[in-house]
Amino acid sequence: MNSAFQSFIVATLAISSARAEDGVTFFEAKVLPVLQQRCYECHSHENKIKGGLALDLKNGWQTGGDHGPAVVPGDVVKSHLVEAVRYTNPDMEMPPKGKLATNEIEVLEKWVAMGAPDPRVSQIAAKEAKTVDIEAGKKFWAFQPVRDSKPPAVKNTAWPLNEVDRFILAKQEAAGLSPAPDADPHTWLRRVSLALTGLPPTPEEISAFMSDLSDESDKSDAYARVVDRLLNSSAFGERWARHWLDLTGYADQIGTSNSVFAEHAWRYRDYVISAFNNDKPFDQFVREQVAGDLLPASSPEKRAENIIATGFLVLGDVEIVAVDKLKMEHDLVDQQVSKIGTAFLGMTLGCVRCHDHKFDPIAQTDYYAMAGMFRSTSSTYKTDNGVWSSVHKRELPETTEQKSQREKAVAAHEARIKALEAEIAAKTAEKADTKGMKAEMEHAKFFAPTVAKAFAVHDVERPADMCVTIRGNPRALGDVVKRGALRVASWAEFPAIPADQSGRAQLADWLADPRNPLTARVTVNRIWQKLFGEGIVRTVDYFGTRGEKPTHPELLDHLAAQFMKNGWSQKRLIRELVLSRTYRQSSSADATDGNRLLTRMNRPRLDAEAIRDAMLAISNKLVPSGGGTALPLEFPENVQSINPGAVNPPAFKFSKMRPVQEFERTIYQPVIRTAAQPGSAKLRDVFDFTQPAQIAGQRAETAVPTQALFLINSDLVRARATDIAKLVTQAEPNPGARLESLWLRILSRPITSAERDDATHFLDSLPTDKAWIELSHALLASNEFLLRL
Ligand code: HEC
Ligand code: HEC
Repeated sequence: MNSAFQSFIVATLAISSARAEDGVTFFEAKVLPVLQQRCYECHSHENKIKGGLALDLKNGWQTGGDHGPAVVPGDVVKSHLVEAVRYTNPDMEMPPKGKLATNEIEVLEKWVAMGAPDPRVSQIAAKEAKTVDIEAGKKFWAFQPVRDSKPPAVKNTAWPLNEVDRFILAKQEAAGLSPAPDADPHTWLRRVSLALTGLPPTPEEISAFMSDLSDESDKSDAYARVVDRLLNSSAFGERWARHWLDLTGYADQIGTSNSVFAEHAWRYRDYVISAFNNDKPFDQFVREQVAGDLLPASSPEKRAENIIATGFLVLGDVEIVAVDKLKMEHDLVDQQVSKIGTAFLGMTLGCVRCHDHKFDPIAQTDYYAMAGMFRSTSSTYKTDNGVWSSVHKRELPETTEQKSQREKAVAAHEARIKALEAEIAAKTAEKADTKGMKAEMEHAKFFAPTVAKAFAVHDVERPADMCVTIRGNPRALGDVVKRGALRVASWAEFPAIPADQSGRAQLADWLADPRNPLTARVTVNRIWQKLFGEGIVRTVDYFGTRGEKPTHPELLDHLAAQFMKNGWSQKRLIRELVLSRTYRQSSSADATDGNRLLTRMNRPRLDAEAIRDAMLAISNKLVPSGGGTALPLEFPENVQSINPGAVNPPAFKFSKMRPVQEFERTIYQPVIRTAAQPGSAKLRDVFDFTQPAQIAGQRAETAVPTQALFLINSDLVRARATDIAKLVTQAEPNPGARLESLWLRILSRPITSAERDDATHFLDSLPTDKAWIELSHALLASNEFLLRL
């Protein structure tokens, strides 16, 4: 058993072509604005070059001023620039007229620590920026219309089970390669269960599948029956909704820098879960999220759903308090445009805010054509006390019954508040202690029964076109641009936008149009990546000229075309993919060239949610959830930390969690961008949970020692191991049967005889009361448990 202790995690390192881009993005988004606003006045070619230091060019800080290089990449201590902004040396304090804000200093420190990425080559080169040639740009594969093609002929006609397999096999044959043998049925069952629901199969499900398979007459139906069962389980939506939330920046917190709870965010999360469970056609899913508030609805319930869907636009890392209000508003628009670019189009639209795209055929005018729609959309507001603003909350339509129930609750609540007020007044007159009562009052006010609300958007009263800005400066305006979409991905003139509308409805139609070359391709590629570990286009969020080319372009187009033809059904596509022979391949064979031709299955590491959820499920602790608020705010001690009027809002801290929450699936846990998070959040952080401020379709997949240490030392894992040990020892008196059951539960397969010998030896070497716990713990920390083989 020692090997299980030692071979903890050898997860494959995922591609990180996004990495290099990250540094540039950070520089452009965070560092450059600080330099421009706080330093250029005295350190740029357009103004002055004080102390000999120019900060508007990379070689400016490299050469440095009178004291030599201003930045030593990677070394915060040796960099004059950092010393100057920290105000630690009285002889060199920058900017001289007043210290930067703490977050600005942190940005510069982080930038230096990152190795000072700086994409600026030379200003002269930048000034010569060529105009974007849209017509030439259309020739690039990603902007070409989707063209379906027939599956190619193959030599080994016995192997393919469906059309997908013929595309895959044809490429292998052309390269002189052949597919891996089928994985054994236990491996396939665990693989498909984890991929579709994020949970391993139960021992009962394993034995049902095995007996189904032994009935030779309908072997292939046995596979299909499993897939249909998984697709129809509510666990499917709970799994796949989380993939989508990674593209939205979802959190139960407004923004990052503000301690403001997003108490209605969960409605959007639940909307996404049910969209997946009901197999909402993806084109409709797009329309509702971009323009749900503008769509016709047949009932109050449908209208409410449409409004909730627009939470997509506002539940990201929205900054709501900033000194420069105009810039803040432009930042929000930028976030919405960028999110649409990444989530639906696989384009980095945020790069076109300040200059034409340096690599892709997208001009600044394309960006501001879309930005005008979101500038014409209202997303935030100022609260009554004028201190905090927030994301728009919209009242949801209610049925007659809901209305009368609410009115009764309001009356009861008002009576309670009156009583509390009277009590507080009496106590105050007696000069008696009221700290406890005031808190109760605050709590009661927060929980006043109101019409259900959702974070959502609506069109402004006077929608208007927007001007191009010079280098992203909201006060330096260029020409007005008519609202519209990316020209390079368009097939016709953008439709006219009614004078009283933002244009989001037209944008939604454009995104969901079968002629749009990007939406379906990007979507089927993401689904492929979730199932096979790598996308057909490996840069899943970026289909531009600097991204990767598709390994199987005809297959990608075939899938995209079929997806649209089949009513944009995600379940149907997933079903087709996991029932392919390609998906059934073993993962243990060798592969060259990064397995680009899929001559075996990839072995992705389970993500944070699957690790936690699987451990809960295996130990029979998982509690089903009906959704609802993730924030345990019904406890007065938690509400203390909301206090929106506070000058220095305290950091988020949940003094109390709902007990059942610890046993619900991870998607129902609160997501807070800042501050310590309760319970299982540590596991999320250790295993690469998405940074909730980020928009990314594929998570990092690191393999670091902290993960092994976490699995050994965490109370959470220990508790699950203890539960599992109890379960198997109570159920099975016979050690042989116990071992069988333990392997089936944790690794979803029978134990081998070699393992049986090792395990018996291991058990004998420990005191009986601990032996089974140690063994369960070792299996939970094993490589095999952590990988999707
Ligand atoms: C109002 C004008 C002004 C602004 C704004 C300003 N600086 Fe300076 N900076 C100076 C002057 C003047 C010197 C030369 C001081 C000296 O040599 O004693 C200097 C020198 C420096 C030096 C030392 C260069 C060397 O090698 O001697 C650094 C580093 C520096 N500035 C960084 C910054 C940074 C970073 C910012 C923006 C956060 C900034 N400065 C903003 C005026 C300014
Ligand atoms: C906040 C404004 C802003 C954003 C957003 C921005 N850039 Fe820039 N970028 C600049 C400025 C300013 C320059 C230097 C002058 C110029 O080229 O206009 C520059 C220069 C560049 C250069 C060097 C150009 C040359 O010819 O030397 C590249 C490459 C570049 N940006 C790529 C990007 C990418 C990729 C993104 C998106 C990840 C991006 N930029 C986002 C402002 C921005």
